[in-house]
Amino acid sequence: MVVNMKGKHLASLHDLTKEEIWQILKTAETLKIKQKTGERHELLYGKTLAMIFQKPSTRTRVSFEVGMKQLGGHALYLSSTDLQLGRGETVGDTGAVLARYCDGIMARVFSHDNIIELCKHSTVPVINGLSDLLHPCQCLADLETILEKKQEFKGLKLAFVGDGNNVCHSLMFGSAKVGMDMTVVCPKGYEPDKQIEKMALEDGLKLEITNDPKGVKGADVIYTDVWASMGKDKEHDDRVKVFKPYQVNEKLVSQAQDDCIVMHCLPAHRGEEITDEVVDGPHSVVLDQAENRNHAQKAVMALLM
Ligand code: CP
Ligand code: NVA
Repeated sequence: MVVNMKGKHLASLHDLTKEEIWQILKTAETLKIKQKTGERHELLYGKTLAMIFQKPSTRTRVSFEVGMKQLGGHALYLSSTDLQLGRGETVGDTGAVLARYCDGIMARVFSHDNIIELCKHSTVPVINGLSDLLHPCQCLADLETILEKKQEFKGLKLAFVGDGNNVCHSLMFGSAKVGMDMTVVCPKGYEPDKQIEKMALEDGLKLEITNDPKGVKGADVIYTDVWASMGKDKEHDDRVKVFKPYQVNEKLVSQAQDDCIVMHCLPAHRGEEITDEVVDGPHSVVLDQAENRNHAQKAVMALLM
């Protein structure tokens, strides 16, 4: 069944139905094949995506910009310091105006409220390219990667090790929608947001939260992310001490399934949340994840725009 997603926003995976998420994953698979075989797929010919960045980015910026080009369209990189946003124009006014020129808006912001505000004022689809609360595009690429490596989600356990942050939150929503079990292994005080937990449980997530690093036992997927996210840089040195027992190293990985995959959204702080041996080792799929940002987001843009 084809679900019509045209005109929808992607602020959070919580807002999408299971069918919509599957449609994105299947479309991503098709577009990936087309890209690899050189078959043209200019589904967004002549369209423009505005990309607002309040924070730095390598993967998100490049995968969206290249993706838009491959779809026959065009992307505009708009740093918030160059926009009038930097001089006090509201996010709402910015979104309303950009929607008069462009066919979609992707935004990477500090406060998730800015994404909500953009969705409210924009007449074209808004795509969350990371907020302090969520990173849905990352999770879609991650689901695509897990599906490629494991063929199905049912019966899998994903252990997220580290900070209960934006990436963890989106994985909670994503896992709930595809029926994958999740264990969050984090230091005390760094658990996922309670409201997100409640919403993910309502979505049907089978979730365990533990402060014991042994929580990775039996995991099919080990996932980690930086200990101090963008905007929390000042806490970095204190966090390094607290998070040390949660480093994804060979000893920790040996407690998971023999055929487990190790994931990281990147950028990695090698030697902190993950060791060189693991990130470059046989279980790691981090580059496939990074590549799949391109395919998953092309699917999102093609379906929404
Ligand atoms: N994973 C991710 O979003 O990377 P960037 O910060 O480089 O975009
Ligand atoms: N949690 C990280 C993800 C970076 C892609 C951050 O927000 O900085």
